[in-house]
Amino acid sequence: MKTILPIQWKNDILILLDQTLLPNEVVYEEFETIEGVWDAIQVMKVRGAPAIGVSAAYGLYLGIRNATERDFPSFYEELTIKAAYLASSRPTAVNLFWAINRLKQTAEQNKHLPISEIKQLLLEEAITIHHEDEEINRNIGENLLTLLQDGMGILTHCNAGALATTKYGTATAPMYLAHERGWNLKIFSDETRPRLQGSMLTAFELQQAGLDVTVITDNMAAVVMSQGKINAVIVGCDRVAANGDTANKIGTLGVSILAKHYGIPFYVAAPTPTIDLETPTGAEIPIEERETSEVTHRFGIATAPENVQVYNPSFDVTPHENITAIVTERGIVKPNYQENLVKVMKRP
Ligand code: MRU
Repeated sequence: MKTILPIQWKNDILILLDQTLLPNEVVYEEFETIEGVWDAIQVMKVRGAPAIGVSAAYGLYLGIRNATERDFPSFYEELTIKAAYLASSRPTAVNLFWAINRLKQTAEQNKHLPISEIKQLLLEEAITIHHEDEEINRNIGENLLTLLQDGMGILTHCNAGALATTKYGTATAPMYLAHERGWNLKIFSDETRPRLQGSMLTAFELQQAGLDVTVITDNMAAVVMSQGKINAVIVGCDRVAANGDTANKIGTLGVSILAKHYGIPFYVAAPTPTIDLETPTGAEIPIEERETSEVTHRFGIATAPENVQVYNPSFDVTPHENITAIVTERGIVKPNYQENLVKVMKRP
């Protein structure tokens, strides 16, 4: 399958596709510093929970590869400072913190080794996280495919696609796999105000891969469902709490309420690194608020009066009652989520 690669690691340089320029320009940017990676995550050159996690792992390595500390305690202190800095780039996607912690654990487990070898192991861990993501997404796709049938209409929101991961995407993985098998799924992609990930990114990558994709504005989801065009909703996630409440791009909550109203199954594609059993419910998930200009301006033009009050939460939480199944790489999780998420996390 030919999909666009948003993240590459070559010759000790992180290469990211600048997603703020899509679909108009395909530009790759090189990053050799942790500050550059922090900025790329913050301004959303790279975005989507798994892609943020992978980039952060490389970013943390870039931040410590030239560290001059010779003993483990001072090296680990430096690593912790750099990790905290990188963790401040965005708050909601738990993959960011998960990836950073994985690197910190790798360092701790190997504290008896010379610092130069620990640095090498941190790079290897980042590369492992990168490669694992591709495998995870393919398995999510296989599992979701068992819930779908040829000819279905599928609605998705935001971009939980190849661009948000390393390959295949999560919500889009079954779409790509179905396409490979000659199925004909009809995909509807919500535009996803205010950043338009649905029209600028999801429609871009699905169209490039030759899939049947139709863009609708967010306020059209209800009518498309009422017309019987949607057989399933599939969305990604930024953090799944222990009770199954799920944070995803702003607007997902509304789509879940509509799906419930029209009796349409609502599936969350969730890699296990996005499941956070430490967060009890959706109420405890930190929700990012982004700058007001995302709402008041589009393409350099004001779309609201100057100085108007704006509220711009970037994510919302879908209550677990609205979710038909949470589909991971290790299997399909159905209610009771509180019990079944623990079980799936224990599975190899
Ligand atoms: O603000 P973004 O573009 O990073 O938000 C992305 C989403 O909400 C995705 O649906 C989520 O991260 C899952 S990506 C597989």
